[in-house]
Amino acid sequence: MYALLIFLVTILIVSLIAALLAAALVIAERYIADYGQCTLTLNGQRDLSVQGGKPLLTVLREEKIFIPSACGGRGTCGVCKVNVTDGGGPILPTETPFLAKEEIADDVRLSCQIKVRGDLAIHIPEELFNVQEFAARCVQIEELTYDMNRFRFELTEPATIEYVPGQYVQLLCPRYKGNAEEVYRAYSIASDPKQKNIIDLIIRRVPNGICTTWCFEYLKQGDTVKMNGPYGEFCLSRTEAPMVFVAGGSGMAPFVTILHAMKNTGNPRQAEYFFGANTTADLCLTGEMKDFEQALPNFTFVPVVARPDESDNWTGETGLVTEAVQRRYTDLSGHEGYLCGSPGMIDAAAKVFTSLGMPEDKIYYDKFA
Ligand SMILES: Cc1cc2nc3c(=O)[nH]c(=O)nc-3n(C[C@H](O)[C@H](O)[C@H](O)COP(=O)(O)OP(=O)(O)OC[C@H]3O[C@@H](n4cnc5c(N)ncnc54)[C@H](O)[C@@H]3O)c2cc1C
Ligand code: FES
Repeated sequence: MYALLIFLVTILIVSLIAALLAAALVIAERYIADYGQCTLTLNGQRDLSVQGGKPLLTVLREEKIFIPSACGGRGTCGVCKVNVTDGGGPILPTETPFLAKEEIADDVRLSCQIKVRGDLAIHIPEELFNVQEFAARCVQIEELTYDMNRFRFELTEPATIEYVPGQYVQLLCPRYKGNAEEVYRAYSIASDPKQKNIIDLIIRRVPNGICTTWCFEYLKQGDTVKMNGPYGEFCLSRTEAPMVFVAGGSGMAPFVTILHAMKNTGNPRQAEYFFGANTTADLCLTGEMKDFEQALPNFTFVPVVARPDESDNWTGETGLVTEAVQRRYTDLSGHEGYLCGSPGMIDAAAKVFTSLGMPEDKIYYDKFA
C-alpha cells in the first residue's frame, strides 16, 4: 500500500514538473524568444522577409499565400503539406503520423507544425499562388434542417470567384466570446457556379464547435466575413462513365454545385445520388433534388432514411446508405464513385464500392475531417 502511494506521488511530481516545463517553454517561445526577421525563399524565385516565431502556415497566410488547412492548424488533418528544402529542422512527432516515407525523403512538412525560427527555403505548388482572399457579405441564412443552415455570401472584394465544382473555401471564424483565436475551417462550395459573385455554404452545427457555433449563434445577415480559396481536387472526372454519388449531412454541399454545373452544361452522364439521413428530419433539399431530376434526364436522387418514424409514413429506402447501394447494384465495375461527408461513412461506402467491383482509382472523395 505504502509502495503504491510512493509510486503515485512520484508520478504526480514528474507530471507536474513536465507540465511546468512545457508551460515555461510556451511562455519563453511566445514572450522571450525573438527570432527577428527571417528570409523565406519561395520556389527558389522570391525572397520574403518575415517575422520569425510563428508557424509557417500563419506566416504564409500573412503574406497572402494560402495553404489548404482543413483543421485550421491543429495538426489533425495533415492537409497543409509544403516542401521545406532548407532550414526546416528535424521532423516533429506531431508530423510523423501524416507523412509517408517518400514524403519525408522529399522534405515534405506540415506547415502548421513547423515554426519559422530562421531562414527557410520552401516549395509550394504553383496553383496555390492563385488562391485568393475574399471579403463577402452574408446576404441570406436559410434553415435546411434542425442542425443545418445554408449561408449565402455575396463576394465584395474581389467580386467574383472562379472554381471547379466540388472545390471548397476556408472561412475565417473571428474571435468571439468563448473563442480567443481566429480560426479557419473548410467548407465546400454549394452554389450555382454560374453565379460567380455568390458562395453558398451548407453548414452542419457541431456541438461546441468553434466555427459552427459562430455561424449559428453570431453570424447575422448583413455581416462581412473573410474567406479564401478555392481549394481541393474533388470534382467530376472527364469520362462518360456512369456515377454513384454518396453523401450524408452537409456532405450534400459539393453535390449541389456539381449538379448545377451538370445542368448548366447539359451533361448527360448517368448519376444516382444516395443521400443518407438518420431520420426524415435530417433530409434536406429534396425539392431541389427533384428539380435536378427534371432537368437532368439521367439523374436520380435516392434519399435513404436509417430510422424512419412510423408516423412519417416513409416509403423510400431505409437502413444505411451503403445497404441501399448494395440493394440496387450487383456490379459497379464500370462506374465511378463520388463520396462526401464523415470519414466513417466514406470508408464504409468505399469498401462497398470496391466489393462490387469498382476500381479503387475510380473512387473520388472529400472527407469532412
Ligand atoms: C475539405 C472539407 C470540406 C468541408 N466541407 C464542409 C461543409 O460543406 N459543411 C460542413 O458543415 N462542414 C464541412 N467540413 C467540416 C468543417 O471544416 C469543420 O470541421 C466543421 O464545421 C467543424 O468545425 P468547428 O470549428 O465548428 O468544430 P471544431 O471546433 O473544429 O470541433 C469541435 C469538436 O467536434 C469534433 N468535430 C469536428 N468536426 C466534426 C463533425 N463534422 N462532426 C462531428 N464532430 C466533429 C472535433 O473533433 C472537436 O472535438 C469540411 C471539412 C473539410 C476537410
Ligand atoms: S492544417 Fe491541419 S494538420 Fe496542418
